[in-house]
Amino acid sequence: MKIAVIGTGNVGSTLAIALQKAGHQIHPGVRSTKSFSGMDKILAAGLGPRLIADAVGLSDVIILSTPAPAAVDAARELGDTTGKVIIDTMNVVGGRGPAGYENTATAVLENTRTTDVVKCFNTTGYENMANPQYAQGAIDMFIAGDSKRGKEIAARLAKDIGFGELYDLGGNDKFTLIEQLANVWIDLAIMQGYGRDMAIKIIRRSV
Ligand SMILES: NC(=O)c1ccc[n+]([C@@H]2O[C@H](COP(=O)([O-])OP(=O)(O)OC[C@H]3O[C@@H](n4cnc5c(N)ncnc54)[C@H](OP(=O)(O)O)[C@@H]3O)[C@@H](O)[C@H]2O)c1
Repeated sequence: MKIAVIGTGNVGSTLAIALQKAGHQIHPGVRSTKSFSGMDKILAAGLGPRLIADAVGLSDVIILSTPAPAAVDAARELGDTTGKVIIDTMNVVGGRGPAGYENTATAVLENTRTTDVVKCFNTTGYENMANPQYAQGAIDMFIAGDSKRGKEIAARLAKDIGFGELYDLGGNDKFTLIEQLANVWIDLAIMQGYGRDMAIKIIRRSV
């Protein structure tokens, strides 16, 4: 799959490298090709950074991993997203998000030309995206959004980098809920001190 990764910090650079290893064609999209977050990791992996709209133009799928308050600006900087799938990894944390929006994906939907916006890869730390394998098995990932196509693609990408079960939380009306699930992980890992080597796994009595 041809994937633009916009935001090359903790999450973006980790997903870019993991997805490249899984065989996908990755185009990191940056504001300046001379200096950007994760530069050493991205270049060491042999990935070629491009300006954001150029990376988007070469791709069918866009992973958006900027800070939540930048969601509107970042969405507008993508250029023409008609027909493309956007996977939003962002979270409003501590009330810091895009002004006027309850969650980031709604902001992205309202400021881009695609209706295929889904949330995935937002509910766990980037270290778990680099390595979703624990002694107890592969950890779970969660998705939400109205776009069936977007969720199928996000689920496949999550599987490709080693996540276990994919749980579908529902449609666009669950964008805020899936960010709240991320905030549960953040609270446990950071505020309550359990540490970032921790993940959420659903267990079921019968499958
Ligand atoms: N950290 C985690 O473990 C984690 C896990 C799940 C979800 N998340 C969420 O994922 C998002 C990214 O987190 P992170 O930790 O990867 O952040 P980060 O390391 O601070 O990286 C942020 C990236 O966003 C870029 N950026 C900032 N404003 C932009 C704009 N207006 N247009 C385009 N790019 C812009 C930065 O570009 P420059 O390179 O130019 O500075 C940088 O590459 C956040 O919303 C966070 O809540 C984080």
